[in-house]
Amino acid sequence: MLSTIDLKVSKLKKELGLELQQHSSFEHTESFHEACQSWVNADTTLFVGDNLIYLKELALMSPEIVDVCYIDPPYNTGSKFLYEDNRKSEARGIFGTHSAWMSFMLPRLVAAREILKETGIITISIDDYEQAYLKILMDRIFGEDNFIGSIVVCRSKNGKGSKKNLATNHEYLLIYGKSKQAGLRGQSDETDYNKQDEFGQYRVDGLFRKKGEASLRTDRPNMFYPIYFNPSSGKVSIEAIKGWKVTYPIDSKGIERRWLWGIDTARERSWQLYASKNGVIYVKNYAGNAEAEKRTKVRTLWNNANFYTEKGTNEIKSIFGSKIFDTPKPLEYIKKIIDVSSDSNAVILDFFAGSGTTAQAVADLNSTDKGTRRCLLMESDSVIPPNHIAQESGFKFISDITEKRLKIIKSKEDSFEFKIISPSINIPVQIPTDLNAEIYN
Ligand SMILES: C[S@@+](CC[C@H](N)C(=O)[O-])C[C@H]1O[C@@H](n2cnc3c(N)ncnc32)[C@H](O)[C@@H]1O
Repeated sequence: MLSTIDLKVSKLKKELGLELQQHSSFEHTESFHEACQSWVNADTTLFVGDNLIYLKELALMSPEIVDVCYIDPPYNTGSKFLYEDNRKSEARGIFGTHSAWMSFMLPRLVAAREILKETGIITISIDDYEQAYLKILMDRIFGEDNFIGSIVVCRSKNGKGSKKNLATNHEYLLIYGKSKQAGLRGQSDETDYNKQDEFGQYRVDGLFRKKGEASLRTDRPNMFYPIYFNPSSGKVSIEAIKGWKVTYPIDSKGIERRWLWGIDTARERSWQLYASKNGVIYVKNYAGNAEAEKRTKVRTLWNNANFYTEKGTNEIKSIFGSKIFDTPKPLEYIKKIIDVSSDSNAVILDFFAGSGTTAQAVADLNSTDKGTRRCLLMESDSVIPPNHIAQESGFKFISDITEKRLKIIKSKEDSFEFKIISPSINIPVQIPTDLNAEIYN
């Protein structure tokens, strides 16, 4: 019998004029179901093998568990990587040679949508070769209304490519929500914490005088009171101190407004207030105070040298000793994606896991903010082509690289727990269920 996912996929393929393939059934055994469910007990779970099998299984048995999905699929550039990057069809239909790549992605995206929570977000790295085709797929699967935005990410300073007088140095990050309930949480304000006192490093970034609605003295008369300050130290007191000056919440136009807190709170927390030389009072924002951390709207242009491709490659070289993975993403880039889109207890899914950067990003974020994020990774167990440096370094299957990254994380962070769900252990040998037998190439 065809699953709901298969039916959705067939319908969408028909609508888009993509090639329909023969469905074959994959009878999941009890032990397979159990193995797939065991992710709940580990920080990180690596599902080894074709991601479609696992995505369908999770969609069926554990729908709506994921807060943020990040994927970095093969860009289909035809490059000779350790993984298949050349899914081109004989030109036919409106999408021409791109329809094979679209057919490959479609069932995976349909299943991934089912695994996302209603508030969940999916973020996808892509470059110009498939960006337009991916956007069409995503608009159909997730809905145009759930398109949150597209980030342009700078990949290198000087760019590359064979185009005359044009060096490409950007790619994209497409972001969709599963529903209207999904949204980004904003990016942390990267302004420096450039001041220091006995309570830690802080920056001064919020007026203590109320602005806008209900900010007049007449709105809250008991929130209009004198504040005493020392113009040379910036210290503030609610009690009068000899030699200190006095200030009131009066704005530049002379309008009497009110403070943000009542007088008792201000007395208790006067250490958190800062006065400028001319008596403008601010609230100090201390570094590491995640709750009070000010977030701003995520900008659509990310030009940060820590996100350059070269950075990811150098990280792989330093972890593994050589460039055993062709296209790793930089760690700081993935950390930012996770941070802007989810909280510290999020479940994160990456079903094109490659060298396992997402697992490392999740582990690093958890150790920085004491978060409890969990990570689900999927990576193919295709054999690494002969003469590839990864094979020469002793890796046989691509997923061996992901697994090794997890072991390295564990060696540095003993409390980190991971689980491997692998076909050889858990899954009986089966004929592919896939709508795309090509992935078994
Ligand atoms: C561009 S790489 C991802 C790199 C990753 N972001 C990193 O930082 O290392 C794409 C990965 O998807 C994997 N992949 C492709 N098709 C797959 C499939 N059907 N199932 C599981 N993994 C697959 C490839 O083996 C490759 O490692």
